[in-house]
Amino acid sequence: MSATPEKFYITTPIYYVTAAPHIGHAYTTIAADACARFQRLMGKDVFFVTGTDEHGGKNLEAARAAGISAQEHVDQQAAVYKRVFEESHCEFDRFIRTTEPEHVDLVQRIFQKLKDQGDIYKGEYEGWYCVPCETYLLDKDLQEGNCPDCKREVTRTTTESYFFRTSKYADRILKALEEKPDFIGPEGRKNEVASFIKRGLQDACISRKASEWDIPVKDDPDQTIYVWFDALVNYLTAAGYDPDDDATNEWWPASVQVMAKDILVRFHATIWPAMLMALDLPLPEVIFAHGWWLSPDESRGDDAAERKISKSRGDLVSPVEIAKDLAEISGARLDIAMDAVRYFVLSEVTFGLDGVFSIDAVMRRFNDDLANDLGNLLNRTLPLVERFVDGKVPDPGDGAGAAGDPIAKARDGAAAAMDKLDFSGALTSIWGLISFGNRYVDEKAPWDLHKEGKTAERDAVLYDLLDCLHAVALLVQPFMPMVAKEILAQLGLSDADGHTTWDSVAGGALAVGGEIKRDKPIFPRIDMKRPDAQAEAQPKPKDKPKKAKKSEPETSEITFDDFMKLDFRVAEIIAAKNVEGKDRLLELQVSLGDETRTIAAGIAEQYPPETLVGKRVVLVANLKPAKIGGVESHGMILAAGEKKPLALVTLDRDCPLGSKVR
Ligand code: MSP
Repeated sequence: MSATPEKFYITTPIYYVTAAPHIGHAYTTIAADACARFQRLMGKDVFFVTGTDEHGGKNLEAARAAGISAQEHVDQQAAVYKRVFEESHCEFDRFIRTTEPEHVDLVQRIFQKLKDQGDIYKGEYEGWYCVPCETYLLDKDLQEGNCPDCKREVTRTTTESYFFRTSKYADRILKALEEKPDFIGPEGRKNEVASFIKRGLQDACISRKASEWDIPVKDDPDQTIYVWFDALVNYLTAAGYDPDDDATNEWWPASVQVMAKDILVRFHATIWPAMLMALDLPLPEVIFAHGWWLSPDESRGDDAAERKISKSRGDLVSPVEIAKDLAEISGARLDIAMDAVRYFVLSEVTFGLDGVFSIDAVMRRFNDDLANDLGNLLNRTLPLVERFVDGKVPDPGDGAGAAGDPIAKARDGAAAAMDKLDFSGALTSIWGLISFGNRYVDEKAPWDLHKEGKTAERDAVLYDLLDCLHAVALLVQPFMPMVAKEILAQLGLSDADGHTTWDSVAGGALAVGGEIKRDKPIFPRIDMKRPDAQAEAQPKPKDKPKKAKKSEPETSEITFDDFMKLDFRVAEIIAAKNVEGKDRLLELQVSLGDETRTIAAGIAEQYPPETLVGKRVVLVANLKPAKIGGVESHGMILAAGEKKPLALVTLDRDCPLGSKVR
């Protein structure tokens, strides 16, 4: 009898339907999809929910602007979101919409229950409201008179409202932060949440004078429920929760809730846990906030909030359109190009950090990692199998097995990374296996073994290469499901082969005798000099023209303006480890107070990793992210010394993390 599989419930934010989704929205749902697919392969019973947030002033404004009724607008837009996520190969189990009667009913009943038990009370709200963020703010929250998140104007509001006693739960939330180390991630965000709560949690204003497009308070129809209170309840609606019947809750608590950093502190890490505590429900296992995709348009300013890809700034970067462009330029199949876009967003930055999104960067990664590494291994191996062993998986005799260790290492490394939602780390582990394959074919030169008549050795090498490709196909499934399918098909395997478990991916798993079915290259290399590739890579007309790159600095003197471009910040090293195969390199996690970064630093010879944790250093924070020794490095720490680092630049007294250094 098999044991009941462990349940795994994963959620994304539900998105406002003010305009079509862009790559930022797709990012969260794609990341959650990769996690859900991985957990399914781990044998878990997965429930993956995404959806749309359809009430609130923003959506109503968008409907008015489109000249249609609010209902028509949300129906149309929710369908667009659903389709775009499906076309991005996201296999969600439930697409929830907050206008569903089941959800509306639950919101009203939860509101009533909390009101009856005294957690919701009536009062007078006097403060500010940011319509684009649908956020109530107090004087102390404003930055230069504007919304602290989107930096836009706020409106003064005085209104009779209901309040939710968030403040009552502040201590319990702080305690949960201490007791559940993985509750809020990444680490730097957890500190941000703790300081926000310690500054004092205000009760949350959760209703306003009836608005035509919000959920009415059941016994006080003059008031409608604040869109965020309504939206957060979606996680319970989808789970089947009913406050009056314990038996219906099939999925809560969530295992993982992902979202971007801007909706963590004020909502998911404060009001939401307080609501759960008031309902006497367990907290989610993990709430993880990822970074933002930023526009490459530098003229928009230096601040991440100004550069954030956003609907309201008119960034219409649809993931589907990006995949179409990529398919056209490269000649790859559209579904493969879509997977390449998934690969890009999951590998380009460490989950939790900001990244710059550009088609140019997508094309480069397509060429470097997909065409040159993965495609190359497939395109070299299959013709050799056709030429030398009749297109069939050869019998390796006693000679094979070289792929066993690298396969196990990739499988286990990727699994450990996926447990921490480290998608780029998981892909780095899998790419280690691909590099092994490409090195192995060069070293073993099966064409020479063939020429020399060493057929047993040749067959063993070819088997190892196919074995390696087979494992790669299985391991990339969570990230690029259609690519995985296509590699399996070219290896002559059926779709069913993909339904294995993660743990059974191992060397020697490929059956002997199967006939391979080589097809066209999956990732045709993009000629970056082609006019259409160049056109895509060109800055759009509104971009500032970029200065030509200089190979050497022109002069040893720089202007004050040049100096001011450098963003030095105080950072604390919160974790450090060696980088495998790179003797001089360390991978550091540094905290800037409200942000954690991964940094590669060539200081391993001078500083054993365990001596660094807790050190306060100076970080060059606006250095373009770069991959160094396989580590995605987002900044550089300062050290004295020319070729070899002699000493780290540290601080002689305490000052807040993230402080500017001038
Ligand atoms: N409706 C609320 C969420 C309610 S959840 C109970 C909302 N909606 S939103 O349409 O503004 O979407 C926010 C989410 O979209 C972010 O949390 C993030 O998941 C995703 N992103 C939107 N723009 C993004 C970037 N530029 N970069 C990364 N993610 C982005 O807030």
